[in-house]
Amino acid sequence: MNYKISEIEQIIADNLASLGFHEPVTINPSNRPELGDYQYNGIMPIAKKNGLNPIELAEKLVTKLENYPEFKSLNIAGPGFINISFSDKFLIDFMNASLKDITINYKQDIHKTIFLDYGGPNVAKILHVGHLRSANIGEALKRLCNAIGCHTICDVHLGDWGRPMGMVILEIKTRYPDLPYFKSDYHGEPVDFTITNEDLLELYPIATSKAKEDENIMEEARKINYELQNKHPGYYALWQKIVEVSINEVKKLYQDLNVSFDLWEGESDNFAYMDEMFAYLYDKNVIEESNGAQIISVKMPNDNKEMPPLILVKSNGAVSYEATDLAAIWERTHKFKLDEIWYLTDKRQELHFTQVFRASNKSAITNDDIKLVFNGFGTMNGPDGKPFKTRDGGVMPLKTLLDNVTQACEKRMLPTITENRFAIAKTIAVAAIKYADLLPYRTTDYNFDIDKFTDLNGKTGTYLLYSTVRMKSLLNKAEANNLSYQEISKISTDTEKKIILAMLDLKRIIKRSYENRSLNEICEYLYKITNLYNNFYSENKVLTEENEATKSSWLALTKIIYDNNSYLLNILGINIPEKM
Ligand code: ARG
Repeated sequence: MNYKISEIEQIIADNLASLGFHEPVTINPSNRPELGDYQYNGIMPIAKKNGLNPIELAEKLVTKLENYPEFKSLNIAGPGFINISFSDKFLIDFMNASLKDITINYKQDIHKTIFLDYGGPNVAKILHVGHLRSANIGEALKRLCNAIGCHTICDVHLGDWGRPMGMVILEIKTRYPDLPYFKSDYHGEPVDFTITNEDLLELYPIATSKAKEDENIMEEARKINYELQNKHPGYYALWQKIVEVSINEVKKLYQDLNVSFDLWEGESDNFAYMDEMFAYLYDKNVIEESNGAQIISVKMPNDNKEMPPLILVKSNGAVSYEATDLAAIWERTHKFKLDEIWYLTDKRQELHFTQVFRASNKSAITNDDIKLVFNGFGTMNGPDGKPFKTRDGGVMPLKTLLDNVTQACEKRMLPTITENRFAIAKTIAVAAIKYADLLPYRTTDYNFDIDKFTDLNGKTGTYLLYSTVRMKSLLNKAEANNLSYQEISKISTDTEKKIILAMLDLKRIIKRSYENRSLNEICEYLYKITNLYNNFYSENKVLTEENEATKSSWLALTKIIYDNNSYLLNILGINIPEKM
C-alpha cells in the first residue's frame, strides 16, 4: 500500500536490519518542529538492549539514511533521538498521490466484518434527544470502518417488543373496544383502522402512566403482552400496524440526519430465536433457578465490583431485555460471519452489556473469534448542564431540536440565498448538530448550546462547511477561467508545508479514531487543517498569482484539501451544500 510514513518506517527498519537490529519502527510527528518534521525515538531502547552507546548507533544509522532522497536532513538530538526533515520531493510526491486518490490516507490493513447495533429507537415512543448520539456516533463509526477497509452490517435494533407494547395495545383497546382486533373470531383480516404517529405519541405516555399507577392495568398489559408474544391474531395484527407507523416516522428523521441501516430488525426478530437459544443454554447447563427466576451467573473471580446475575426470565415469566440481547447475538452470529459486534448506547447501559457479553462467552454462543464491544457514550445535556427538556419540561423531541437549529442556521444565512434556502439551512443544521455531538470524546457528556454550535467562526460544523464551500468556489472559479492544475510542483510558503505535514499525519489519526471508536480526533483534525488552509487562503492570492507553477500548485493544494474535507465530513455524516 502506498503510504508515505510507512515507507519511511520501512526504510529505517531495513537499514537497522542491515546493522543487525531487527526491530519494528514507528516515527511520530516532531513536537519541536524547528528541529525536524518527524522524530524516531527507537534508538535508545535498542542500544540499551544491546549494551551499545545510543549516540554512536544513531550516527551509524543516520550515515546510512543520508543517501535517501526522501530526507532533506537528519540530526541527532539529546540521548539519541533522530530528527527527520523530509525533502520537498518526498512531500510533493505524497501530495500528488493524494491528489490522484485521497483514500490512500484512510485505508488501513484492517479488513474485518463488523456488525454495528445503533439507533435503538422504541416503537410508539418519540425519538428524542437521547437517541441522537447513538445515531450520530454509530453512523460515523460505520463510515469510518468502511473508509479504512472494513465491511459493516448495521442494525437499527428497534425496541418493538416488551411490556410497553402491551400497555399501548391495552390503551387502544380501552378507547376502541369494538375494533375487530379484540374479537375472538378475528384471524388477521385487514381492518379499516388508521392510527397515526401523532396518535401513538399522545397515547404512549398515557398508557404507561396508567399502568404504573394501577396494578390491575399493569397486570392486564402484561397479559396482553404475553399473548402478543404468543402471536394472538388480533394483538399481533394491531402491533404490526403500530410498528409500521412508527418505523415510517423514524425513517424520515434518520434520513434527515443522514443515518441509514442495512437491517431494520427489532427485539421481536430476536425473540423468534428464543426457544432455540434456551434449548441450547439448558443443554450447556448455564441456567440456574433463583426465586422463581431463571438466571445465568456472570461473576468472575477478579471482579472488584458487584456483578449481579443476568436474569433471563423474571419470576413473573417475563423474558428480559438481557435475554433479548443474548438472542440477538445468537441470531447475528448464526446468520453472519462476523469478527466483531459493536453496540452504541448511553454509557449507563454498560452493566447490561457486560452481563450479556459474559453470558454469551460463558455459554459459548460466542468464543474468542468474535469480539463483543460496548461503546458507551456520554449524555447530551441542556444548556444548563441538566437533562435536555422542552420549555414545558418534557423530553425534547429530536425533530424539535432539528427544527430549532435549522431556524437558527437560516437566520445566519446570507439574504441573497433564496433558492433552496430551507434545504440549505437544514443541511447546515445537521452539520452543526453532528459536529458538536462528535467533537467531545465519546464517553464525555456535553451541553447543548445552539448559539455556540451554529457560530460561523468557531470550532463548529458551520465554520467547517463555510470554509469547505469556499474552497469549492475557488476551484469553480479556476475552472470557469480555464486554469488547469495537474499537480503540485513546488512548496512556496511555510503554511503550505504545515498543511502538507498535517496531511501526512492523517492516516495515524484515522487509525486511532477506529481504535478508540470515537470521532473526536477527526473533528479536531478537520478544524486544524481547515484553519491552516484558511491561513494559506488569506496569505495568498491564488487566482491572480503570476507565477504559473506556483498558481497551479496552489490550486492542486486547494483541490486536495477540498477532497479531503469532503471525505472527512462524509465520514461524520455531514453533507456539503452548494452555497451557503
Ligand atoms: N431501545 C434501547 C433503549 O432505548 C436501546 C437498544 C440498544 N441496543 C441493544 N442491542 N440493546 O434503551
